Amino acid sequence: MLVDLQNIYNKFASTYEENRVVFDMTEIINDFYNNLFFKEGELLDLACGAGEPFAKFFIDNNWQVTGVDFSKKMLEMANKFVPKMQTMYNDVTKVEFKSNKFNAITMIYSLFHLKNEEQFKLLNKIYNWLIPNGSILFTYATKEYTGFDEFEDYKEFLGENLFYAHKTPKSLEKELKHIGFKNISFIYRNIAGETFLWVTAQK
Ligand SMILES: C[S@@+](CC[C@H](N)C(=O)[O-])C[C@H]1O[C@@H](n2cnc3c(N)ncnc32)[C@H](O)[C@@H]1O
Repeated sequence: MLVDLQNIYNKFASTYEENRVVFDMTEIINDFYNNLFFKEGELLDLACGAGEPFAKFFIDNNWQVTGVDFSKKMLEMANKFVPKMQTMYNDVTKVEFKSNKFNAITMIYSLFHLKNEEQFKLLNKIYNWLIPNGSILFTYATKEYTGFDEFEDYKEFLGENLFYAHKTPKSLEKELKHIGFKNISFIYRNIAGETFLWVTAQK
């Protein structure tokens, strides 16, 4: 399953970046950044893709940024567009960091490609990697996107079948609270015709 996704994103890489301008993230970035407890430090961008616009924004604001992705082609672009980001070629479910390391962690348009169980495991790890008061921002798939309250299956995207998974927002909130996150906020945003839930929470 994961190998398929890896191949698909390698294939998508150039067209994906060309289409990326259609997705205006300015408001999301500003909202997240303005509400951060820390105004400097280390950001981890999980499944960073080509590093734009999130990683680049933080680099431009003098943060130290680490980006992890398992698509070599995406990382090649990231190294070109955001050369100051430290990139790691790895699977987000396998990568490890020490506890209390990052001031903020982002995972944009990607968590939903993991099985629900893997998402929960990764959110636990993310909590551990964050410094107390550090924040997370991630995109969560929705009924508006998949057509179902809960989903764990393949769905067509740009002519390819990609794996997606999500639970209900209520279940997600319960999980985040169970892990220990506070100040959980959910905002539905329709960007370029796709409605996802944008989730922020703090350790
Ligand atoms: C839709 S793109 C989003 C990229 C970037 N976050 C952005 O917002 O432009 C999804 C990215 O997730 C990466 N990805 C998906 N599953 C992954 C995994 N298990 N480990 C590492 N990267 C993964 C893909 O290679 C791809 O770059």
